[in-house]
Amino acid sequence: MGDNRFLCSLLLFLFLLSCVNAEDPYRFFTWKVTYGDIYPLGVKQRGILINGQFPGPQIDCVTNDNLIVSVYNYLDEPFLISWNGIQQRRNSWQDGVYGTNCPIPPGKNFTYVLQVKDQIGSFFYFPSLGFHKAAGGFGGIKINSRPMIPVPFPPPAGDFTVLAGDWFKNDHAALRAILDGGHNLPFPDGLLINGRAWNGYTFTVDQGKTYRFRISNVGLTTSINFRIAGHKMKLVEVEGSHTLQNTYSSLDIHLGQSYSVLVTADQPAQDYYIAVSTRFTSPVLTTTAILHYSNSYVRVSGPPPGGPTIQIDWSLNQARSIRWNLTASGPRPNPQGSYHYGLINTSRTIRLANNAPVINGKQRYAVNSVSFVPADTPLKVADYYKIPGVFYLGSIPDHPTGGGGYLQTSVMPADFRTYVEIVFENWEDTVQSWHIDGYSFFVVGMDGGSWSPASRNGYNLRDTVARCTTQFESYSEHPCW
Ligand SMILES: *[C@@H]1O[C@H](CO)[C@@H](O)[C@H](O)[C@H]1NC(C)=O
Ligand SMILES: *[C@@H]1O[C@H](CO)[C@@H](O)[C@H](O)[C@H]1NC(C)=O
Ligand SMILES: *[C@@H]1O[C@H](CO)[C@@H](O)[C@H](O)[C@H]1NC(C)=O
Repeated sequence: MGDNRFLCSLLLFLFLLSCVNAEDPYRFFTWKVTYGDIYPLGVKQRGILINGQFPGPQIDCVTNDNLIVSVYNYLDEPFLISWNGIQQRRNSWQDGVYGTNCPIPPGKNFTYVLQVKDQIGSFFYFPSLGFHKAAGGFGGIKINSRPMIPVPFPPPAGDFTVLAGDWFKNDHAALRAILDGGHNLPFPDGLLINGRAWNGYTFTVDQGKTYRFRISNVGLTTSINFRIAGHKMKLVEVEGSHTLQNTYSSLDIHLGQSYSVLVTADQPAQDYYIAVSTRFTSPVLTTTAILHYSNSYVRVSGPPPGGPTIQIDWSLNQARSIRWNLTASGPRPNPQGSYHYGLINTSRTIRLANNAPVINGKQRYAVNSVSFVPADTPLKVADYYKIPGVFYLGSIPDHPTGGGGYLQTSVMPADFRTYVEIVFENWEDTVQSWHIDGYSFFVVGMDGGSWSPASRNGYNLRDTVARCTTQFESYSEHPCW
């Protein structure tokens, strides 16, 4: 009797569960990936196009939507797309990175099945293999809130995606060959905004209205600063977290990061520069797009607005000013702050330090002295079929050892559902971005110097944002965390 009741309620539960799943809409995409000529910096290049487009088509969806993306690879190389910031809940084999997803062979197709479960916000996708990102293949992802969930600002009059980043005139295969030859990448040749250089892209606005700009750094090597001449930006969202709505005149956006700002067209009717420039580089690269008032007859003139170039404290202070709005709703109707992340007890601390050793005469990059080498068998396949000798659990230490760099197909074990404190340590003199693929995390602190357990006293355990990518600035002589 008791058992039956249990069974009934279990069935009911399963029934409800399937109802809930069935209610989440499906969106289907068919993407043909080809090479095509593009001229972003005025010279002809072999671009990677999706359905003939560079950048690729945008994915517009709503919290909990199922995304079915059929990708046909017409390149002559294996291809994969990664969904930057999409949380792959127990779904890591759809993640589109080496190791979790088999590459799509040339001439073949693969259908990604994803759900943007409990997510809102601005993200992007990009090709993850073979330096393809240097040729395009990226595009925006926009996850809107469900109609019943309050959004902490009035609906904007328009919603623009800004995919910005550094760009090389070299073919992606040539760049790859430089890296494979054991050398560093050259300095980028320029910056692009939505695939265009100087004044190549125009955002048209109506005077008096407010617009949302979703800005992502889709580049390969440099942090960027984003600003709009004569206009302030109100930050409202960072990688799926609604933020305190601070006002900025320019924003640093590090590799792989995404920000949403509101901009009100409250200035005299004319055209204004939208400027993007590189951070912490010499020389500084800049490019511009146009903010065009629909009633404007005045073109842009003069130099674009200047921005910060090498100021690290400025950047750290700005990063620390980005905080969660605890009373605003996220993907669910309850406020973001009702999830008290500061009360969670972590059961493990992992420290990851990056460095750049030369191994066997080649420039490599390493984490805790281990420079990853891909195996012939994809790691997930080896794991599923229990094929020995492909990778070794624990072959990367979970703290820096200071030892010499070595090559390894390294995998770090972790227990399902445990809470982990991860400390990233940057021992290089360049800014590093860390992205945890398929997850988001709370950025509780960052500072110059070495991390120690005492650093925990300075953690923000109340209102930092949950995000998928964070940066580690670096003072040239000191490490930072
Ligand atoms: C590949 O494309 C064919 C033809 O459109 C389709 O029948 C098949 O299901 C696709 N395979 C995958 C894995 O998506
Ligand atoms: C936080 O969000 C609420 C909406 O829930 C909004 O009224 C409030 O202005 C926001 N606070 C800040 C400081 O942005
Ligand atoms: C964390 O640990 C403390 C002390 O052991 C305990 O009181 C608290 O309930 C724990 N918090 C959670 C969320 O488990």
